[in-house]
Amino acid sequence: MKESVLNMIKGILQYAHTLLADSLQDGDTAIDATCGNGHDTAFLCKTVGTSGHVYGFDIQDQAIENTRKRLADDKLTNATIIKDSHANFIHHIPVDQLNHIGGAIFNLGYLPGSDKSIITQGESTILALEGMLEHLKTDGVIILVVYHGHEGGDTERDHIMKYVRSIDQKMCNVLYYGFVNQKNNPPFILALHKKAHHND
Ligand SMILES: C[S@@+](CC[C@H](N)C(=O)[O-])C[C@H]1O[C@@H](n2cnc3c(N)ncnc32)[C@H](O)[C@@H]1O
Repeated sequence: MKESVLNMIKGILQYAHTLLADSLQDGDTAIDATCGNGHDTAFLCKTVGTSGHVYGFDIQDQAIENTRKRLADDKLTNATIIKDSHANFIHHIPVDQLNHIGGAIFNLGYLPGSDKSIITQGESTILALEGMLEHLKTDGVIILVVYHGHEGGDTERDHIMKYVRSIDQKMCNVLYYGFVNQKNNPPFILALHKKAHHND
């Protein structure tokens, strides 16, 4: 039976997870660059399975605590949660696992229900992105969920858009996915898909 259009056009967070579920494999290393309340970390843990491992980063104690609790509630043990900026991810992931990065997600902005002035920043987001892209496996995907309605969000959005537009198309496809008629600056997705033979 033909799939309903309503089922095909997925919401932002649902589509972010669909892309990651389609690209990640059992045993992969995955990164949650902004743990927050741990929803994405838990999703990644289930997606890479017990032979895989998830590294989750956040700069706030509250987020680290919420994520650890979320994982414990779901009985997920295949994650390491690190209180540090995602810009420093390389110092926290063992070298043998760095080359198995199958996917990553950056859910940008502020921690829901917390201090709205503690937000992701374009400069550190791009630093982390560049490093992760370098280590990402061929066919791996990095997702950015870009929130830009809060104070400072527009600056980060512009910084990121400038960066992703400059990425060599031989190395990576960059998909933009969003709803153009929603009110109040709705979030959108950028999905960076690393291609094979990117040295051609
Ligand atoms: C929108 S929330 C993430 C939501 C989360 N993915 C979830 O599933 O609940 C954004 C998070 O990014 C964190 N953050 C801000 N700057 C960061 C940085 N440089 N490195 C890592 N996390 C950062 C904030 O503390 C906040 O918890």
